[in-house]
Amino acid sequence: MSRSTNATEDSILSTNVASRGKWSSKFGFVLAAAGSAIGLGNIWRFPYTVGENGGGAFVLVYLLFVALIGVPVLLAELSMGRSTERSAVGAFKKLMPDSWWPAVGGLGVLCGFGILSFYSVIAGLTLSYLYMAAQGKFTGGFTGAESEQVFGALTSNPLATVGLTAAFLVLTALVVRGGISGGIERAAKILMPIFLVILLILVGRAVTLPGADEGLRFLFAFDFSKLGAAGIMSALGQALFSMSLGMGAMITYGSYLRKEDNLPSAGLTVAFFDTGLALVAGLMIFPAVFAAGLEPEAGPKLIFIVMATIFDTLPFGLFFAVAFYGLLAIAALTSTISLLEVIVAYFVDERSWTREKAVWMMTAACFALAVPSALSLNPSSSLADMVDTNDFLDLANIVFGNYFLSIGAVFICLFVGWKWGVANAVAEMRQGGAKLFAAPLWGVLVRYVCPVAVIIVLIYAAATNSYL
Ligand code: TRP
Repeated sequence: MSRSTNATEDSILSTNVASRGKWSSKFGFVLAAAGSAIGLGNIWRFPYTVGENGGGAFVLVYLLFVALIGVPVLLAELSMGRSTERSAVGAFKKLMPDSWWPAVGGLGVLCGFGILSFYSVIAGLTLSYLYMAAQGKFTGGFTGAESEQVFGALTSNPLATVGLTAAFLVLTALVVRGGISGGIERAAKILMPIFLVILLILVGRAVTLPGADEGLRFLFAFDFSKLGAAGIMSALGQALFSMSLGMGAMITYGSYLRKEDNLPSAGLTVAFFDTGLALVAGLMIFPAVFAAGLEPEAGPKLIFIVMATIFDTLPFGLFFAVAFYGLLAIAALTSTISLLEVIVAYFVDERSWTREKAVWMMTAACFALAVPSALSLNPSSSLADMVDTNDFLDLANIVFGNYFLSIGAVFICLFVGWKWGVANAVAEMRQGGAKLFAAPLWGVLVRYVCPVAVIIVLIYAAATNSYL
C-alpha cells in the first residue's frame, strides 16, 4: 500500500461535522456504524430482556423484527443521511423544508438524550467491574451468592453509581470534543474482533458447564405462551435499540458514507454483526445462568451477576475477566459516542453552537437526567420500584429505548416511503453499484409493513395495558 493511501486511511473522520468529512472507505463506515450498534444493547439489554420474556419465543420474534423492520429502517435512515449529507434534523429540513417533518429529527435528539442518560449509568458499572476484575475479585472461589452481594453493595452506594456515571460521561465528552472518535474507531478495528474471540471462548466455557443444557433449552425452546404483548413490544424495541435506529443516529452516520460505496451491503453487514453478537451473548449467558443456579428473569442486573461467576471456572480467569470488562466498556464507549454525537451535531449544525459548548452543555444536561437513574439502582431509594417493580432507570429505558424509538421508526418510514419517496431512496441506494434486486420488496416494507406493524404492536401493548 502506498504512503498516500495510508494517509487517507488515517483520516477516518467521524466527528468533524462542520466540515463534513467522509469515511475513508466503506470499511471505515461499517466499523463506526457497527461500533454504534454493538454495545450494551447486545451484551446487557438483549440477554436480560430475553430472560424476562421467557426465552426462545422472544428471540424468534426479535429476529423477525430485525429482518422485517430493523433492516428496512436502517436502509431508510442511511439513504436519507447520504443523500442529504446532514444529521437528523437537517436531513428532514433539506428534503422537506417548511414542514413539520424536521420535528421528527428533534424527537430523535431528545430520545438520544434519554438513552444516553441511563446507558451511561450501566456503562459506569462496567468500569467498576473492570476494576474489581483486575483486583482478582472474581477469581479464587467466587459464587453466585457472592456475585449478588457484590452487585448489591455497588448499586446501593449512591456515590459510586453517580460517580461512575459521571466518569463515563466525561470520557465520552472528551472523545466527542476532541474529534478523536476516528482514533477510537481505529482502535475498535483491532479491539472488537478480539472482543468477539473472547466472547466465543466464554461461550465455549459456558456451554460445557454442568447444567448448561438447561440454558440452551431456555434460549431455543419456542414457548409462545410465555410471550405476551409486553414481550412483543420489548422485542420490537430491542430490534431498533440494538441497531441504533429510530432516532437519526444512522441518518447522521449515513451522511458520512461516500457516494461510491455500496450502501445496502454496508447496512446489511452492520445488521448481521449486530444481531450475531446479541445471539453470541445469549449463548454465553444462559448456560452460565443455569449452571450458577441463578434466575434468568433477574432483570438489568443479569449480566453483572452471571458473568462474574464464569471466570472462576476458566484457566487464566483473571485475564479473561479483565479482557471481558475492558472490551465491554470500550464497546459501550463507541455507542455513547454515537449518542452524544447526534445531540452535538444538532446544536452545531442547526443552532450554530461551537462544538466545545455543545459537548459540555449537553453532557451536563445528560448527567442531570442520569442522576435519578443512577440513584434508582439502590433498592432502598424512593426511585426504585416506581411502577410495578420498575425503577427510574427501567422506566427511562422503556420509554426512550422502546417507545420513542418505535414512534421515531414509524415517522421515518412514513417520510421515506410517502414523502421523500421510495424511488428517490432507491436511486440513492443504487449509487455505489448496488443492484438492489429487492428494491420493490423494500418499498412495500417501508411504505406499508413497517409502519402498520409498529403501530399494531403499540396499540396492542396499550390496549392490553402491557406498557412495561
Ligand atoms: N445500539 C447501541 C447498543 O446496542 C446503543 C445505541 C447507540 C443506540 N446509539 C443509539 C440506540 C441510537 C438507539 C439509538 O448498545
